[in-house]
Amino acid sequence: MTKITFVQQDGVRIDTEAENGSTVMETAIMNGVPGIVAECGGACTCATCHVYVDNDWTEKVGGPSMMEEDMLDFAFDVKEASRLSCQIKVKDEFDGLVVHVPGRQG
Ligand code: FES
Repeated sequence: MTKITFVQQDGVRIDTEAENGSTVMETAIMNGVPGIVAECGGACTCATCHVYVDNDWTEKVGGPSMMEEDMLDFAFDVKEASRLSCQIKVKDEFDGLVVHVPGRQG
C-alpha cells in the first residue's frame, strides 16, 4: 500500500492508502475526497480530476503526456504542477505523495 495525502484548499488533509496499479484519481474517489469529480471515469477526456502535485513531488511524479497536456487546457487555473490525477499510476515510489485539490474543477 502506498500512502497518498490529498490537501484541500482550506488546508484539510485526507490521508489515504492507495493500491499500486490504481490511479491517484481512483484513490480519491474510493476515499470520498471532495473536489475530485472524475466525470469521464479516467479516460483523460474531462479534466475534472485536476490536482496540483506538491512541490516536493513534482520531479518524481513527472509531467503530463501530450494527450494529458491537451486535456489540461480545459482545467481551471492550471499551474506548473498541474496533473490529471487519473493519469498518475500509483507505485511504491510514490509512498508519501502529496497532491493539492483545486478550489474548483472546470
Ligand atoms: Fe476525466 Fe481524469 S477522470 S480526465
